[in-house]
Amino acid sequence: MKNLQTDRALITVEQVSKSFSAQEGKGEFTVLSGVNLTVSAGEVVALLGRSGSGKSTLLRIMAGLILPTQGRVIGNGTLLRGANQDVAMVFQSFALLPWLTVQENVELGLEAQGIAREERRRRALKAIDLVGLDGFENAYPKELSGGMKQRVGFARAFVLEPKVLFMDEPFSALDVLTSENLRGEIDDLWNAGTFPSQSILIVTHNIEEAVFLADRVVILGANPGCVRGEVTIDLPRPHDRGSDRFKALVDYIYTVMTNPEAEVTGSVEVAPAAAEVYPSVELPRSPYADPLPHARVGSISGLLELIVEQPEATDDIPRLAERIQLEVDDLLPILDAAVLLSFAEVTQGDVKLTEIGRDFATTTILRSKDLFRQQVLANVPVLVSMIQTLREKRNRSMRAGFFIDLLNEYFSDKESERQFATAVDWGRYAELFEYDASEERLYLPEPAVAASDEEIE
Ligand SMILES: Nc1ncnc2c1ncn2[C@@H]1O[C@H](COP(=O)(O)OP(=O)(O)OP(=O)(O)O)[C@@H](O)[C@H]1O
Ligand SMILES: [Mg+2]
Repeated sequence: MKNLQTDRALITVEQVSKSFSAQEGKGEFTVLSGVNLTVSAGEVVALLGRSGSGKSTLLRIMAGLILPTQGRVIGNGTLLRGANQDVAMVFQSFALLPWLTVQENVELGLEAQGIAREERRRRALKAIDLVGLDGFENAYPKELSGGMKQRVGFARAFVLEPKVLFMDEPFSALDVLTSENLRGEIDDLWNAGTFPSQSILIVTHNIEEAVFLADRVVILGANPGCVRGEVTIDLPRPHDRGSDRFKALVDYIYTVMTNPEAEVTGSVEVAPAAAEVYPSVELPRSPYADPLPHARVGSISGLLELIVEQPEATDDIPRLAERIQLEVDDLLPILDAAVLLSFAEVTQGDVKLTEIGRDFATTTILRSKDLFRQQVLANVPVLVSMIQTLREKRNRSMRAGFFIDLLNEYFSDKESERQFATAVDWGRYAELFEYDASEERLYLPEPAVAASDEEIE
C-alpha cells in the first residue's frame, strides 16, 4: 500500500510569506507569514483555517502557480521553479470546460503534456472508471449534476497521476448528501491503497471533514495566515465518526478554532485549562488591528436564545452547528462574537452562557441594548476608538472612508469594508452612533441618548 511509506518529503514549504500590494501608495497587505509545511509520501494532510486565512494562496504557491514574497518551496529535493509537475488540483468550482465532453475534459491535461492520442484515451477511460462515471464519457458538463461534475474534476486530476493531489474545498459546493457520498468514496480509494497519488493535501474549513479524511490537520491562523499548530489524527482508518476519540479530536479543534489566541499543542488527552484557553485581554497594538468576528447582532442574540431554550443542544459545538443547520464557517464567527462580548464561554467544545449572556438573551429589547452597549464598550476597543474620534469632531461626524482607511492598514480592501460593516452593525444596535449609508457618514447621536462619558473613559 502506498500510504505506508510516510517519511519521504514530497513538498516542503520553508518560511514562506506572501504579500499583495494594497491600494496605491498603501504599501503591502500580508496574507501569509513565515509558513512552514511538509507533505510527505503516504499521508493525507488537511489544511484548516477560516475564510481569508490564505489557504488557497498557500496551495497556489505550493503548486508553483504564484511565487512567495519570501521563503521557498522545495519539490522532490529541488527548489521549485515554475509549475509544480508533481501536483494536480481539484477545485471547489469544478472548473470544467463546458464545450468539451467528460472525456475531453479529462484528457485535457494529458494533451498539454503531449501524450499520444491512444494513451490519452486509455488513461482517461481508466480515470473516468475510477470515479464511477463510466457511461458518461460523451456527456457534456451541463448534462451532469454537481456531484458528477466534481467526479469529472477528480478524474481530470487523477489522470495526471500526480505525486500529490491538492483539493481546495472540493466538496463545499455540493449538497450535504452528495458531498458525504463523494468524500466517502475518496476515503475508500485511499484506504484501499488504490489512490492514484502518493499523498493528499486538502483545504477545508469543515472540521469534521478534516478529521475524517486526514492523518494530520494543520491549523492556520489568520491576519496574516500562519501555521498555529497541528493535530495528529491517531485513529485507525477509516476514521470512525462515532468513536469517542473522533469526537474528542473534533471538539479539541473546535475549541482552538474558537480561540484564536490559544496555543495549538495537538495534545488532545490533556484538555487545555480554561486559563490557558482564555488569556487575559491585553491592550491591542492598535484598536484597528484586531479583527471583529463577522456576526450580526441578530445572529448573536438568536444563538444565545437558542442556548437558553435548549441547553442540552450545547454540550457539543459540532452538534449545535448541526442542530441549527449552520456551516461551521457561519457558526464560528457568531460564537466568537458571543465570547468576545463575554456573553458566552467555550471550553473543550462546550458553550456556556455567562450571567450577562443569559440576561441579554432573555431581557427586554431596551435593556438588551443597554447590556450590548456595556459589553461593547468593555470589550471592543475599535468601537471605543471610533466613538472617541467622533467626539473629537466639532460636528460629531466622520466619513466612513476615514475608518476604512485605518482598517486598511491591517486588512485587505474587501476585509476592511466588512470590518467596518460589522462595527457599524454593532455600534448602531448599541445606539452608540448613527450611520447615514447614502452619505457614508457616521454621526454621534444627541448627547442625551449617547453613551455617557463615564461609560467610555
Ligand atoms: N491576487 C490577490 N491580490 C490581492 N489579494 C489577494 C489575492 N489573492 C488573495 N488575496 C487576499 O488574500 C487573503 C487570503 O486569500 P485566500 O483566498 O488565500 O484565503 P482562503 O483561506 O483560501 O479563503 P477562503 O476560505 O474564503 O477560500 C484574502 O484576504 C484575499 O482577499
Ligand atoms: Mg480558498
